[in-house]
Amino acid sequence: MDARHARITFDPSGRAVETRPGTPLLEAAALAGFAVNTPCGGAGSCGKCRALLDPAPDPLPVELKTLSLEELEAGWRLLCRHNASADLRIHLPASSLFGGGHQIVTGHDAAREGTADPVVRQAAVRMPPPSLEDGLPDLPRLDAALRAAGALDRAAPPLAAGPEALNRLTAGLRAGDYAGTAVFRDSRLLAFHGRTADAPSCGVAVDVGTTTLAAALVDLRDGSDRGVAAAMNPQTVWGDDMLSRIARAGRGREELGEMRRAVCAVIAEMIRELCLDAGVSTDHVHALAAAGNTTMESLFCGVDPSPLGCVPFTPAFGNGPRLRARDLGLPAHPDAELRLFPVIGGFVGGDTVAGILAAGLDALPGVSLLIDIGTNGELVLANNGALHAASTAAGPAFEGARISCGMRAAHGAIEKVVLGENPVFSVIGGGPPRGLCGSGLLDLCGQLLAAGLLAPDGRLAGPEELPPGVPDAVAARVARAPEGGPLFLLGGAPEHPFGLTQRDVRELQLAAGAIRAGILILLRQAGLALDDVDRVLLAGGFGQYIRRENALRVGLLPAEVPGRRVHYAGNTSLAGAKRALLSRADDARVDALARAVRHVDLSTDPDFATEFAMAMYFPG
Ligand code: FES
Repeated sequence: MDARHARITFDPSGRAVETRPGTPLLEAAALAGFAVNTPCGGAGSCGKCRALLDPAPDPLPVELKTLSLEELEAGWRLLCRHNASADLRIHLPASSLFGGGHQIVTGHDAAREGTADPVVRQAAVRMPPPSLEDGLPDLPRLDAALRAAGALDRAAPPLAAGPEALNRLTAGLRAGDYAGTAVFRDSRLLAFHGRTADAPSCGVAVDVGTTTLAAALVDLRDGSDRGVAAAMNPQTVWGDDMLSRIARAGRGREELGEMRRAVCAVIAEMIRELCLDAGVSTDHVHALAAAGNTTMESLFCGVDPSPLGCVPFTPAFGNGPRLRARDLGLPAHPDAELRLFPVIGGFVGGDTVAGILAAGLDALPGVSLLIDIGTNGELVLANNGALHAASTAAGPAFEGARISCGMRAAHGAIEKVVLGENPVFSVIGGGPPRGLCGSGLLDLCGQLLAAGLLAPDGRLAGPEELPPGVPDAVAARVARAPEGGPLFLLGGAPEHPFGLTQRDVRELQLAAGAIRAGILILLRQAGLALDDVDRVLLAGGFGQYIRRENALRVGLLPAEVPGRRVHYAGNTSLAGAKRALLSRADDARVDALARAVRHVDLSTDPDFATEFAMAMYFPG
């Protein structure tokens, strides 16, 4: 280590990062592309971020409570409580990483996937070899052959190629007797394979979510899926919500660069794994498309999102910059281009455009509402092709954050609640519950409303306020928290129980109320009412797991829209990115689509505050 840097090596992968002394080890892990479990938010109480440190620093008082003496002696420590001070090896067990038990929605509507005209095409050609009379260079020779075969339009610019593609062309032509397959994007040659009529060619679609990342490998020849991967966004270490990340990125170029590298490292790893599993060389990844909200897209490509942190919330770009995958550190063909989806305005970003594209909202007859519930709630109203979009600061309650026993939808999270005679809690992965994720929170509040234990104004009943007819097994869970407020018990040791508190209910009211108020304002600005809505499409990681009746009870979904009109749309951000890879026509219209959407800034609507206040009441 020099005086300014500590080298932190993570086993078993051996990945290493150089950090400044004083950098929190959680941050160092994020920089190396690892998303560590932090359900207690770094308070040192959950023990889920444990790792084996070599050399191990002296144990801290909080660790004496959370880890056993044997563990401490062996060198186990809590990553959330230590900073880098010198070179260090850290063994990071799989149990300390967000991983297999995590529910991340990667599904999407395959039926709409087009395969006819991908952005990267290929054509088998044969051409006359050069001679003393015909000394045409290789590249224009191929250009002429492609035009003669109708693979390149007459009006297309001359074929261009980088050194790598030229080397392949030169070798491929000679090895294949001037016959083979050209792989190209517009007029840019990417590869040439001599003596074959078929060349491998893949694309990668990426959903850059605030909390989760998803990537899909697609075969550009036939549009087939070659694999899907998901991971946590390692930037969560710098905050669950967008504003914390904007604030950190705004501190300076170094912080911005760290955040970009962290997310790109995880996406790079996902691409490598997808290619390995599919038996495809990363060199054959010829095109990429990525969609995320405005902040995530900015951080992904290293653009300072600071202007989004203050009024009037102006993004740096509208149409997404075209980037070279390799410049972002992503493993792909040297000339592979990454399309970043365009931003509509403010916080309404490329993921919304991708959602519109995936759902075909601009072409749907009647009135459609697309609701993407994530850390922010993105809303799109389509009225016979006229598009209006807004973003609501729903807050991270649906991601399990700011809830006393909240956690992400990972192993041990209560994801579903049925309060009958005997309450039933479905826990992800089975076993005793460790906390409550977004769908569990929604379910629980819906069920408590139905049981009369939660009032429409959000007041949670205490033990002395039980309405008549509450089953004994349910009543036994109504308790008081140590500070005196009501608590609905969910689990934990007798001396450390956890459950739903009054503050948790308030967080849900804020989140559901923001989305509901946003829907009402969007409709009103378009001169429509709730019963005009022909269909509601629920998108995003959370939408798939919620139960409609409880979403209706807490007012997240409008009761005026019958259940049969509510559909789950899956991960529309990923699906839209795939469409842009598989259809040249869709790729070409993405920017125009974003410009055609009217951005509704809810904060400037004079009715928003009133609607929001009213939407805080549960319809019951
Ligand atoms: S102990 Fe909970 S995050 Fe470290």
